Amino acid sequence: MEKIKVRNLHKEFIVHTRGGLKINGYHDINFELNKGEFLSLHGPSGLGKSSVLKALYRTYTTTSGEIIFNLEDGNYIDIAKANESEILKLRKEHIGYVSQFLQVLPRISAVDIVAQPLIDKGESEKNSKEKAKEMLNFLNIKEELFDISPLTFSGGEQQRVNIAKGIIAPKSVLLLDEPTASLDKNNTNKVIDKLLQIKKDGVTMIGIFHDIDCMKRISDKIYDMKEKKYANIN
Ligand SMILES: Nc1ncnc2c1ncn2[C@@H]1O[C@H](COP(=O)(O)OP(=O)(O)OP(=O)(O)O)[C@@H](O)[C@H]1O
Ligand SMILES: [Mg+2]
Repeated sequence: MEKIKVRNLHKEFIVHTRGGLKINGYHDINFELNKGEFLSLHGPSGLGKSSVLKALYRTYTTTSGEIIFNLEDGNYIDIAKANESEILKLRKEHIGYVSQFLQVLPRISAVDIVAQPLIDKGESEKNSKEKAKEMLNFLNIKEELFDISPLTFSGGEQQRVNIAKGIIAPKSVLLLDEPTASLDKNNTNKVIDKLLQIKKDGVTMIGIFHDIDCMKRISDKIYDMKEKKYANIN
């Protein structure tokens, strides 16, 4: 059975501060993916890719349609209609979201930020920090930066800390909005290598990439948001 099934998803933003002005978000979105698959959302800027991802994480509500999330126990949740407490539980236990930009509190070191998801999962602080260092090292973050706050890091360094934090303790589903947007080729490849590894572990992922080669390398399916169908990836 599919892990996630999106049916006839439609969104119209209503801007209340502009007298209820309606803005087209996305419409007629249909895709599905199995456990351990990577699906990319593809299409021109402004077509609603990020908004669909936010609908899956329920940062945004949906105007109509279904987002069926099948649980291991045979039950399912329609993310489009679930209540707030169901959504909080879903985020806590099943779905992670890697935003495009790092958002962190000041004065917390890069290592502590990356270690936190492991600590939250019950790993010891010592082990968590060790793994966080390995991850930062793998993603080419200089060791001298480990113990300072990433708020003064470069754009690409911040993005790598953000990814490290997002993938160090993956839940069953991971949503990624342009995780490699400000990275050079070498670091992009490193991130893709990590994502491939996570995919092997059975994590189901939906992502958005600007770089076509990168998208092809990681994706099992590409959903073309303009043509409203799967694109041929070869
Ligand atoms: N909170 C919001 N309120 C009103 N309109 C919004 C909101 N969020 C997104 N939109 C609009 O929805 C449309 C789709 O935006 P979205 O960010 O999903 O596009 P995208 O495909 O991710 O584009 P890009 O490739 O540039 O990141 C845009 O026209 C945008 O202005
Ligand atoms: Mg976007």
